[in-house]
Amino acid sequence: MTKATPISGSDLPLLRVRPPGPISATMGARLHNVESRNVTFVGPEWPVFWREAVGSNVLDVDGNIYIDLTSAFGVALLGHAHESVLSSMNEAASFIHGMGDIHPPEPKLTLLEKLARFSPWPDAKVILSTGGSEAVEAALKTAALASGRPGVIAFQGAYHGLTAGSLSATPRPHFRSFFEEKLYGGVSFAPFPDPLRDSSPHGQASLEAVGLALLEGAPNGDPIGSIIIEPVQARGGVRIPPDGFMRKLSEIAAESGVLLIADEIMTGMGRCGAPFASSLLGLEPDIVVVGKALGGGLPISACLAPSHIMDAWPPSTGEAIHTSTFLGHPLSCTVAAAVLDAIQLQEIPNQASRMGKNLLEGLREQLVGVAGIGDIRGLGLLLGIEFVEEDGISPARGRGARIAEEALTEGLILLPGGDNGHVLELTPSASLTETQAEYAVDTIASVIRRTP
Ligand SMILES: Cc1ncc(COP(=O)(O)O)c(C=O)c1O
Repeated sequence: MTKATPISGSDLPLLRVRPPGPISATMGARLHNVESRNVTFVGPEWPVFWREAVGSNVLDVDGNIYIDLTSAFGVALLGHAHESVLSSMNEAASFIHGMGDIHPPEPKLTLLEKLARFSPWPDAKVILSTGGSEAVEAALKTAALASGRPGVIAFQGAYHGLTAGSLSATPRPHFRSFFEEKLYGGVSFAPFPDPLRDSSPHGQASLEAVGLALLEGAPNGDPIGSIIIEPVQARGGVRIPPDGFMRKLSEIAAESGVLLIADEIMTGMGRCGAPFASSLLGLEPDIVVVGKALGGGLPISACLAPSHIMDAWPPSTGEAIHTSTFLGHPLSCTVAAAVLDAIQLQEIPNQASRMGKNLLEGLREQLVGVAGIGDIRGLGLLLGIEFVEEDGISPARGRGARIAEEALTEGLILLPGGDNGHVLELTPSASLTETQAEYAVDTIASVIRRTP
């Protein structure tokens, strides 16, 4: 570290004042004056303003130290301010910005070659972008060009982003309702097999819905050219498909000549216990999108596909057809290349798999017999606790959100998920120490017991 910081990355929580403390509260009031009010929710119990983040720790403006069990939306898989990120940022200090698609920055080439080797295909080609939604846009465009058919099948509960194209494939009314008539109408939504409520083998009901949409075309009549799916629905409530579902979906896509896009923005780069979660679940994608952990905290994402698919794009004749100002941003590319090396050298997928199993076991042991829990599930370092009503089926609306709020007062940063905020999600960093993990499991269990 270049700057002295009171957090080591492996600290246990230390709360000087009940969060949100007085400085966070004052900042919340100031934020209200200057930010569009749709963005940050500010209430009496939420949020805390962050000042520093290192490893699995966050320091807030009131001097409180937390364990971050979200790795800030799944980004800090290696840990916040990881040494590979810091040293590569230092190395890139004399080359921050360039001209990505005109006079290419050298670090762009280095990253593309590494990403192509990391990808599932021997001949992958890449389109870089800055955020996850943008990578999804690139994937949807690539699929439309390569298949010649613009229609898309996506899944209920999915989250693919909020830009126009990615939002078209994101079914949640909360994000869509104001813009419905501006969104592409060629997306058909099939149910994602639900671990608690769908007893059909291999998610048969979902597969049948996919089959029907392939026959009937999209709601606007467009023929279907692609299927986009998260291997594990992350924001949808850590929904892990049943055995066999992804394999059968891949077969259906191949038989009907439809391209499968795996949205691995949350699940990829090792989080779930393999470089790509698709391989663990039998999903055989034609296009993969990654983001979040790739940049180790810098905004960079990528759409990857084998060359016979990516070459559906016409060659540039001097003006790119799909690009942006920050495509191939040298600083982000240098850091992402170092992050990719670190993920491989430190065997992050294996580490995530081992740590995830321990966390899952710990949570299941501590929560055995506790009423109102429908399911505790996880794949690597993507875990969820689903809360249900007394019938064991209906989602306990907002309970995940209430628990995340209460856990903050014990020094844990957590987020709710699921359509009804009824899932408590954990996407910790691989830097989480055993002591931090034990504290987290014990504290989550006691917060759940006392928070209806
Ligand atoms: C699976 C998935 N896809 C796409 C996105 C959108 O990424 P971004 O918020 O970087 O645009 C997210 C973000 O949470 C995500 O989890």
